[in-house]
Amino acid sequence: MAASLRVAVLISGRGSNMEALIKASREDDFPAEIVLVLSNRPEAAGLRTAESFGIETKIVDHKAFSDRESFESEMSDCLRAKKVDFIALAGFMRLMTEGFVAAWRNRMINIHPSLLPLFPGLNTHERALEAGVKLHGCSVHFVRHEMDSGPLIGQAAVPVLAEDTPDSLAARVLAAEHRLYPLCLRLIAEGRVTVEGERARVEAGAPEAAFGNPAIL
Ligand code: GRF
Repeated sequence: MAASLRVAVLISGRGSNMEALIKASREDDFPAEIVLVLSNRPEAAGLRTAESFGIETKIVDHKAFSDRESFESEMSDCLRAKKVDFIALAGFMRLMTEGFVAAWRNRMINIHPSLLPLFPGLNTHERALEAGVKLHGCSVHFVRHEMDSGPLIGQAAVPVLAEDTPDSLAARVLAAEHRLYPLCLRLIAEGRVTVEGERARVEAGAPEAAFGNPAIL
């Protein structure tokens, strides 16, 4: 069996998707290992959660740097020190430079709480309700420089109910996120995802059934 993919999870806050990735990575046959959790915010609650799982954490506070390049250079040093080969963004609220994104091209993924390309950016649940869509959900994609864009790896859809508020819809989407993100990381780490042009191709026979996952791949 190939060596486990060494993954860093980058967070800025609560870290519930990070926790889902950590829990999945502790399953016997999971092909990736979370070797580092890095936050740009010292107060991120997810740091405590990661520590409770015994995972190394790093704070790289963007406020301590005069520009994005020096902030990213410090992050790169941390990633290099842990021999990280893949990055999963999980609620990481900093835009990255073109250079950083290029250095991690097809080795950095993000989870976004909408069915992209609908509703990139913030307040996705409010905007979904306003638009009156009947299906909403989440997307995992390779990161490109434009915000919330890049080849889609997996999506999970949830219904929008007549009585939904932004909070109730967010909770339904979040539960789907927690299933989708580990599934996508697994598919990548198993070598079942390839990028062709600007589309990600997911090999047939993906193990979504084993996760009881609502993903539409
Ligand atoms: C999630 O909704 C994720 O899709 C978005 O930011 C939120 C992070 O939540 N990118 P958490 O920190 O993983 O709980």
